[in-house]
Order: sequence, then C-alpha cells, then structure tokens
Amino acid sequence: MESPFKPEILKNRVALVTGGSSGIGLEIARQLGLHGARVGISGRRKDVLDAAVAALAAEGITAVGLQGDVRSAASCEGWVASLEERWGPGLDVLVNCAAGNFLATAEELTPNGFKTVMEIDTLGTFTMSRAAFPALRRSTSPSGASVVNISATLQYGATWWQAHASAAKSAVDSLTRSLALEWGEFGVRVNGVAPGPIDGTAGMEKLAPGAKEFVQSTIPLRNQMGRKWDIAMAVVYLSSPAAAFVTGDVLVVDGAAWMWKPKL
Ligand code: HXC
Repeated sequence: MESPFKPEILKNRVALVTGGSSGIGLEIARQLGLHGARVGISGRRKDVLDAAVAALAAEGITAVGLQGDVRSAASCEGWVASLEERWGPGLDVLVNCAAGNFLATAEELTPNGFKTVMEIDTLGTFTMSRAAFPALRRSTSPSGASVVNISATLQYGATWWQAHASAAKSAVDSLTRSLALEWGEFGVRVNGVAPGPIDGTAGMEKLAPGAKEFVQSTIPLRNQMGRKWDIAMAVVYLSSPAAAFVTGDVLVVDGAAWMWKPKL
C-alpha cells in the first residue's frame, strides 16, 4: 500500500517500537522507517528480532533489534541507552505495542494469567514510557516527542473471555491521558491508537479463530477488516508534525466495529 504521506515526514527522527518484531508492531516500525525514521524494535525472541531487522534493512530502513522484555525496567532502560549511544541524544517516537493475550473465561483465568497480561500491557507501557521519558525530553523534534500506546476496543463495553485484556487496555487508555497531562509541559505528546479487527494478526488468530466471516459481517465500514497498514498510518500521523497539537487522545481505527449493532 502506498502511503499518502511524504516519505521524509519523519526524517532524522529516532523511534522505538516495543513488540516491533512481528505483526502490527513490525508494520508500524516499517512505516516509521519508510517515512525517514531510524527504528529500534524490541522483542523477546532473538531469531524473530534478527529476521525483522533483516527485512527492514532490505527495504533500506535503518533498524536495530533490542532484545528483552517490557516487564523488565532494566530492559527498557537499556534499550533507550543503546539507541542514544548509537544515534545520539534524544528519542522522538515511542510506540508501546508489546502485548499478550489469550481467550479465557473469568472462572478459568488464574490470578497469574490476569496478572501476566496486566504486566505486559499496562505495567509494560508504564515501565517503557517512564524509562524513555528523559530521552523523550531530549527530543529536538519541532512537533514534540510522540508516545503512541497501542490499545484496543474490546474494553468499550465488554468482550467475551477478555476480562484480563479489557482491564489492561482500559488502564493503558487511562495512562495515555495521565501522561499527556503531566508531560505536555515538556513537549512530549502522548496518544493512543485502538485497533479493531485487523486481518492477519496474532490477535485475530487467537481471539476469533475460524470466525473471520462473522467478524467481517459486524464491521460497518464495507464489512472489511482493517490492515496492519491502517494502524501504522495512524501512528505515522500521530508522530508527525500534522498532529503537533494532538495529545491525550485515543484514535479508534476499527471501521466502527466496536459500535456495531444488528439491524432491527
Ligand atoms: C488461560 C493462560 C493461557 C491461556 C497463558 N495462561 N496462556 N491461561 N488460557 N491460553 C496463563 C498461564 O497458565 C499462567 O498462569 C500465566 O498465564 C502466565 O503464563 P506464561 O506462559 O508463564 O506467560 P508468558 O510466557 O509470559 O506468556 C505470556 C502470554 C503469551 C500472554 C501468555 O501468550 C504471550 O506473551 N504472548 C505474546 C504474543 C501475543 O499474545 N500477542 C497477541 C496480542 S493480541 P498460571 O496461573 O498457570 O501460572 C492483543 C490484541 C488485543 O493484544 C485486541 C484484539 C482485538
């Protein structure tokens, strides 16, 4: 898919994408790179990270893999330090995309299962953002440093067998607003993107196995699922000078899926 944005819109910017070695995170890293940013991508598995960096490099993108876990403050701090060492002071774009999820009824979900998803999604977003804050403050981007938290729509109302992820993503949205409030004076913008059903993702495979046609039938916008590209374009926009006055917002990119109701 061709981008509607100028290819140099993020030139000279440095970006860090957690969970950037696969799925939506990788497409976000790719599009940030294709628009001029140098990108660090984090992930837990070295082989997957190496393959992602090679794929990005093959498209002419300057990318580096950052191995570790968003549940570790040491990992998050180390990633930021290594990017500043490599590309100089300041971080311009942080995308918190790392997430964990599975389907489980509330009665089958163990407290540790609930905690694990909270720790990856919510605490991971906080830990990473906090670790990046000093470098985000050092950004010289004229439109301010940009943090984008990848959220979801399953917590608007409620979603079957998603008590853990819904709680975690609600908290991520709340954190987006709190950080926007506190970090505005430092020129750091904090927004969210809430994807709906996105084709070809782990989320769809795990959360709606074999239900593609039904899911599509509930998407008001042309009964089509979103593409990873749609989410990446929202992140490019929010990280670009076009969004210089946008902060504390969560942009829903879901074809109006969350508000679907059957026709009467
Ligand atoms: C019930 C489960 C479970 C399952 C794990 N647990 N999988 N419970 N059903 N399918 C429980 C375990 O039993 C354990 O609790 C606890 O969770 C921790 O499990 P671990 O395997 O030790 O955790 P870990 O190795 O850290 O793995 C985390 C994970 C894993 C979330 C379970 O799947 C993961 O990291 N996945 C990352 C990739 C991913 O899922 N991406 C999809 C994101 S989709 P006990 O009590 O037994 O010790 C997404 C989209 C949202 O976020 C929006 C969609 C529209």
